Amino acid sequence: MARFAHLARMRPIKSFIAMVLLISIFLIFVYSTLHLESTYGHRAEFQTAYQSLATYKSEERIVKTPTPKLEIVTTTSTSAITTTTPPQPQGPQVSISNKLRENIPQNSAYWNRLLYSALRKLEKGGNPPGRNSDWSRCRETSQESIQTNVHDIASYPMLFRDFVEGMVCRFPPLLINQRDKCKTDEQGGTNQTLFLFAIKSAPGNFQRRQAVRETWGREGTYENGLRVRTVFLLGSAGQDDPNLSALLSFEARHHEDILQWDFHESFLNLTLKMSTLLEWTVKHCPHVSYVFSGDDDVFVNTPALVGYLQSLEPSKASELYVGHVIKTARPLRDPKSKYYIPLSYYDNAYPAYAGGGGFLFSGVWLQPLHLVSQVLPFFPIDDVYIGMCFQAIGVSAELHPGFQTFDVKEQDRDNVCVHKGLILTHQRTPQQLKRLWNGIHSPFLTC
Ligand SMILES: *[C@@H]1O[C@H](CO)[C@@H](O)[C@H](O)[C@H]1NC(C)=O
Ligand SMILES: *[C@@H]1O[C@H](CO)[C@@H](O)[C@H](O)[C@H]1NC(C)=O
Ligand SMILES: *[C@@H]1O[C@H](CO)[C@@H](O)[C@H](O)[C@H]1NC(C)=O
Repeated sequence: MARFAHLARMRPIKSFIAMVLLISIFLIFVYSTLHLESTYGHRAEFQTAYQSLATYKSEERIVKTPTPKLEIVTTTSTSAITTTTPPQPQGPQVSISNKLRENIPQNSAYWNRLLYSALRKLEKGGNPPGRNSDWSRCRETSQESIQTNVHDIASYPMLFRDFVEGMVCRFPPLLINQRDKCKTDEQGGTNQTLFLFAIKSAPGNFQRRQAVRETWGREGTYENGLRVRTVFLLGSAGQDDPNLSALLSFEARHHEDILQWDFHESFLNLTLKMSTLLEWTVKHCPHVSYVFSGDDDVFVNTPALVGYLQSLEPSKASELYVGHVIKTARPLRDPKSKYYIPLSYYDNAYPAYAGGGGFLFSGVWLQPLHLVSQVLPFFPIDDVYIGMCFQAIGVSAELHPGFQTFDVKEQDRDNVCVHKGLILTHQRTPQQLKRLWNGIHSPFLTC
């Protein structure tokens, strides 16, 4: 890219370069038809050459536009490429509910513009970027586009800036997998219902994970045939963190419930984590009936949760997105807040969403969610992002009073009787988890 930007200033050479390009494109074309067995490699070269050309052209366009444009100016135009490649095998069709368009206006904020740019591309039949985008180099390709499109990026807090620069990076390598997590077991046959606890954890949280395994996240089969499986979702440690990889690989072998991806574990990377969860589940647990997504420091009353599922009509049970619904939230504009969102990044209220401490959804939503998540630009707050994805598939969050992600009254936080009637409470220590779990199972409990 830099090479062409440099050449742009050397006007006399421009036509010569264009000619050389055309000739080399022609040669590559002739060459690739002669050697069909190695077509792929040459097509890649061909694409790169074309991409550079497109880049050069769009840069020229930027220079010539005096007024700030509302459109996203991309530095790599893919539309130029699609006409030269053979038709790609068509994946499942992504359709985006009108609700999303009605609720999220088209305005000058970066995210809003990215969304509408992605929607237009979708309408024109373009495919989402897909898995072959190179993880190790995705940041480089987005830098220029960000500088051009977010005029005040320099005023963003450092972490937020880091997030914006990594927004296009969607497919981190999987370091630790559990391929057989959702395989049906021999005795159970196919009439078992699969329930997956997908728990956001961090590499160092050994105690919390162990407490979850010993309490609400224990794997097994409930009397009604509900088969519970658990995975912990982990990023990787940062440069200054102690190296836990030997401990983690032991833990993964011993418990077979660790999933780890090669991205830095941090709050602003939780959306990436949720996206990798969708990706993983679609691939390795496609027939799951329910997915619970939550934190590793929540208390879940699993018997109450199972009871709730049992109480539902089948039609209802198959279409769940339920939790503690936050209906009228707006972005926080205080730069010191953990949840800070600059106005020039996102300008709108949030859709109603289920608090990320713990919520439940039906397996039928997995595939559609996974598809729309590849169209919707990443948003730094993971539960808001999932709420947007649900809105994009036309599903509303449903409130269940048993989910208390903002927690119960201070004096009730160790009260077993209070927890017996709830499904989820937030922020408990591993010791509190054990006490509450033993408490709700005690035959001597009288409430
Ligand atoms: C299905 O479940 C029922 C009861 O839960 C059990 O009796 C039956 O054997 C199961 N069928 C198969 C094919 O596993
Ligand atoms: C961490 O430790 C593992 C083995 O214990 C080693 O293979 C790996 O290279 C180490 N990573 C770093 C970044 O030092
Ligand atoms: C997210 O992970 C990527 C990949 O490891 C890392 O480069 C980036 O700094 C992380 N982002 C944040 C906001 O921590």
